[in-house]
Amino acid sequence: MASTALPQTMKSLLQASRKGTEVISITSPIPTPTHPDDVLIRVHTAAPCAGELLWAVNFPDSVPADKEMVPCQDLAGTVVKAPAGSKFAEGDRVYCRIEANRAGAAREYALARTTELAKIPASLGWIEAAATPLSALTAYQAVFDQGGLDPAALHGDEAARAKNGAKRVLVTGAGGGVGSWVVQLSSLAGAKAVVAVCGGKEKIESVTKLGATEVVDYTKTSIEAWAAEDPAAREVDLVIEMVGGKTLSGCWHAVKNGGDIIAINTPPEYGKPEGLKKELGKGLFFIVKPLGSNLEEIGQLIDAGKVRPVVDSVWTFDEFEKAFARLDSGHAKGKVIIKISEEADK
Ligand SMILES: NC(=O)c1ccc[n+]([C@@H]2O[C@H](COP(=O)([O-])OP(=O)(O)OC[C@H]3O[C@@H](n4cnc5c(N)ncnc54)[C@H](OP(=O)(O)O)[C@@H]3O)[C@@H](O)[C@H]2O)c1
Repeated sequence: MASTALPQTMKSLLQASRKGTEVISITSPIPTPTHPDDVLIRVHTAAPCAGELLWAVNFPDSVPADKEMVPCQDLAGTVVKAPAGSKFAEGDRVYCRIEANRAGAAREYALARTTELAKIPASLGWIEAAATPLSALTAYQAVFDQGGLDPAALHGDEAARAKNGAKRVLVTGAGGGVGSWVVQLSSLAGAKAVVAVCGGKEKIESVTKLGATEVVDYTKTSIEAWAAEDPAAREVDLVIEMVGGKTLSGCWHAVKNGGDIIAINTPPEYGKPEGLKKELGKGLFFIVKPLGSNLEEIGQLIDAGKVRPVVDSVWTFDEFEKAFARLDSGHAKGKVIIKISEEADK
């Protein structure tokens, strides 16, 4: 049982309708654990994901009709009540990605499952902690589980590093939430090259600091034109793609015949240019799994100073409309964070 009395109600954000993108502020009862693995958390910071207000329309299978439409599936907060025998206890600093089929975290109290949670690395405050789960998990699973780089290299395995060292990796959206992690993890794992596709001087400087070895400024050239200048040297073994449209099509020109495109925005086959005679080894769209176990590993890398979340901007609870507008601009340079409690700045 929680040792401090809980309020009856809390402030919360809510997506006003499944078919629209309007977000409103409401007062609602605090949630009650109903699943044996539910952990009740006092939320300090939460983060929205690009495009999340369209999931109910675009991915209806992932958003059940009875979902309470609270946005922001990423949180950092303090455990209030955990199931008996759980590895989490009242007062633990935790962070996680809540699966998209359940209510999110843009409210003072939220429920997450034990399998989703990990303790926050000691070197992160509440703001950077909320900037981590979705982006880092997606990047980790894209680069290692789906993209085939060997994660043992992250922990000094030289054979794994040598294997990864044979692969050129290209990432689109490289200056954004997920992309900034793909750049860091691919670089840390010893990829032969990390080609970052992003726009503008500030983003170029940022991705270069994170470990990009080559940069394609999409505001000055297309990926297709860049690859065509020297295909033998520039084509890549693995693409991690998160922009879709012309960017995805350009990636087909930049990947080697038999190379892989791992996508998180649009299935790769939708972007194949007409008439292009090239086959992929692996062309895959996947949805991130909210695994606390992956977050624990990422947390170790963070505390070792090897990787870091990138924060675009921080907004108060009352500024939530500005936070969503910033995300909708499509040009965030890292994560957009909403402060939920007064402890968020600590
Ligand atoms: N399938 C999944 O499980 C999963 C998980 C997480 C995210 N996603 C999706 O992945 C996408 C990226 O998410 P995010 O959180 O990283 O978004 P984000 O933080 O908004 O970043 C998107 C980045 O894309 C860049 N960009 C825009 N147009 C571009 C172009 N033509 N070429 C290269 N970069 C371009 C933007 O940078 P500039 O300012 O340089 O344009 C921005 O930094 C979203 O569509 C999101 O919904 C899917």
